[in-house]
Amino acid sequence: MRNNESNMRTKKITKAVFPVAGLGTRFLPATKSIPKEIMTLVDRPLIQYAIDEARAAGIKEFIFVTARGKSALEDYFDHAPELESELRKKGKTELLDILKDTNMDSGAIAYVRQNRALGLGHAVWCARRLIGNEPFAVLLPDDVIAADRPCLQQMVEAHAETGGCMVAAMEVAPQRTSSYGILDIGEDGGTIVRAKGLVEKPRPEDAPSNLAIIGRYILTPKVLTNLNRMKQGAGGEIQLTDAIAEEVDTAAGVHGLRFRGHRYDCGSKIGFLQATVAFGLSRPDLGAEFESFLHELMATQKAAQ
Ligand code: UTP
Repeated sequence: MRNNESNMRTKKITKAVFPVAGLGTRFLPATKSIPKEIMTLVDRPLIQYAIDEARAAGIKEFIFVTARGKSALEDYFDHAPELESELRKKGKTELLDILKDTNMDSGAIAYVRQNRALGLGHAVWCARRLIGNEPFAVLLPDDVIAADRPCLQQMVEAHAETGGCMVAAMEVAPQRTSSYGILDIGEDGGTIVRAKGLVEKPRPEDAPSNLAIIGRYILTPKVLTNLNRMKQGAGGEIQLTDAIAEEVDTAAGVHGLRFRGHRYDCGSKIGFLQATVAFGLSRPDLGAEFESFLHELMATQKAAQ
């Protein structure tokens, strides 16, 4: 193995990119004024779930790729002096503790701007100067993953063995391949799969498998170099999948991790509703009451049919 690749394997992953510059058209009209990532799952915005997952995986530097109209997102991570002093005066320490999770240390968070929504690959490329020459994580906050061990943590551990690029992967219904990047499987080790190709949104009849890439990645800086000279790929956008695909023939290659957990596509209405129900039911403070409400609602609906 070349030295550079073995260094990449041993380097700790401390930086994560959060691309949040998309238009969120599937959630219009809400996303006309509210960034999708600020939409609330029970009582926390989507972005908070992604940040917590990244922290659990050892991430220390958080890079947001933002766009016009996303200032609510930037404000979310700032201190709120008036609110905090009011809570302190009233002795509401529990609420103050909850707010602490939203504050970032000075310098731990950086924002870069994507001034045109040219796709996920372009968004990641916008962060290139802040990443430098080390492996880094990418988390799409609209993919929320419920797992005993946070998904990115599972990936960091698996990546320590494989090096190279790693994507989170899950089986999807064969007729849904055209909504995902799909892995062409080279070697299937069960939990870890080595890819011999990656195809962006193939039609079911062209798909090499039904193992789909979801919104968690560990990437080598080489992917940024690939993005540098990317032409526009499928759908007119600069595709991250195409830039990762160029790495399959390197020594460390590209691996998919069949993570343990359930992924909710909170960028879609149905996924957001499913996540709301699942997260609501799993909350110790709300679950029992919410469950009996759902039972009653279902019974009333059945009776009315
Ligand atoms: P999506 O494919 O969900 O696109 O992006 P979108 O614009 O957010 O939403 P829809 O499809 O119009 O409803 C996946 C992730 O990539 C980011 C998004 O913010 C989201 O986290 N993204 C996408 C960018 O940062 N920039 C882009 O140009 C495109």
